[in-house]
Amino acid sequence: MEVGFLGLGIMGKAMAMNLLKHGFKVTVWNRTLSKCDELVEHGASVGETPAAVVKRNKYTIAMLSDPSAALSVAFDKDGVLEEICAGKGYIDMSTVDAETSIKINEAIQSKGGHFLEAPVSGSKKPAEDGQLIILAAGEKALFEQAVPAFDVMGKKSFFLGPVGNGAKMKLVVNMIMGCMMNAFSEGLELASRSGLDPHTLLDVLDLGAIANPMFKLKGPTMIKNSYAPAFPLKHQQKDMRLALALGDENALSMPIAAASNEVFKRARSLGLGDSDFSAVFEAVKSVKH
Ligand SMILES: NC(=O)c1ccc[n+]([C@@H]2O[C@H](COP(=O)([O-])OP(=O)(O)OC[C@H]3O[C@@H](n4cnc5c(N)ncnc54)[C@H](OP(=O)(O)O)[C@@H]3O)[C@@H](O)[C@H]2O)c1
Repeated sequence: MEVGFLGLGIMGKAMAMNLLKHGFKVTVWNRTLSKCDELVEHGASVGETPAAVVKRNKYTIAMLSDPSAALSVAFDKDGVLEEICAGKGYIDMSTVDAETSIKINEAIQSKGGHFLEAPVSGSKKPAEDGQLIILAAGEKALFEQAVPAFDVMGKKSFFLGPVGNGAKMKLVVNMIMGCMMNAFSEGLELASRSGLDPHTLLDVLDLGAIANPMFKLKGPTMIKNSYAPAFPLKHQQKDMRLALALGDENALSMPIAAASNEVFKRARSLGLGDSDFSAVFEAVKSVKH
C-alpha cells in the first residue's frame, strides 16, 4: 500500500516510520524539510508540497500540531485541496476541534475526495511501538480501506460515526488527562512540602485503585525535574482550550478543567511550552508560600 504522510513531528515521525517498517511505500512532507531525512534513510520518498504528496498517493495521512496547522496544510497554496479528487482519501490524525474537521471534510468532499478524521490516544512510545488507540470518524468506506495502516500504527481502532465525533472523543480523553496531571502534580508537591518522600507516594499510588500507567511513567521523571517532550505541554494546553470550548457549546460547567487549563497556561508563560506536559509540575511548584 502506498501512502502519503504530512507532518513529521514527535508523533508523525514515529507513525510514518512504522508504516515504512511494515512494507508501506511512504511519501513524506514536513514544513521543516530536514525532518524528512531520517525517514528517507529508511526508504521514504519526499514530496515537495502537501499537494505533490496527494497527487502521488491514493491515501494521504496528516499529523499536524493544531487547528491552524491542519487548516493551513489543507487550504493554503500547494495544500491538500489542490490535488484531492475523486478516488483519493485524506486522513487527518491531528488533534483538532470538531469545527476544524468538519470544515476540512466539507472542502475535501466538494472536490469529490474522501475524508476521515482519526486523532489518536497514546504518546511517543505507543506511536513508536504501533500501540496507539485510533479514534476515527467520517466516511466508513475510507475507514475500512485505512484499517491495514491503522493496524500498523495502533492496537485498536474505533469508528465513531460522523466527522467531529473523533475530535470530540479525543478532547474528552485529553481533558481528563490534563486534570489528572494537575492533581498528580499538586499531590507530589503536597507530599514534599509536608515532609513526605514523593517516591513513597508513587509506591503507595501504584498499589491502589488510582494506579495508572501515566503516574507510573511520569512520576519518576517529574521527581527528577526531567521533562524531555513526549507530549509537548503547548499541545496539552491547546487540547484543554478546545475541550473547554466544547464544554461551553454544551453548557457544561467544568471547573476542574478550567483550573487545570490556567495552570497549563502559567506553565507556558514560564517558557515550558515545548517541554513535556508533565512540566506543569514546575508551574505548581512555582507558587510559593
Ligand atoms: N505527542 C503526543 O504525545 C501526542 C499524542 C496524541 C496526539 N497528539 C497530537 O498529535 C499532533 C502532533 O503532535 P506532535 O507531538 O507530533 O507535535 P510536534 O512534535 O509539535 O509536531 C507538530 C507537527 O506539525 C507541523 N506544523 C506545525 N505548524 C504547522 C503549519 N502551520 N504548517 C505546516 N505544518 C505545521 C510541524 O512542522 P515543523 O516540523 O515544521 O514544525 C510538525 O511536523 C498534535 O495535534 C497533538 O496534539 C500528540
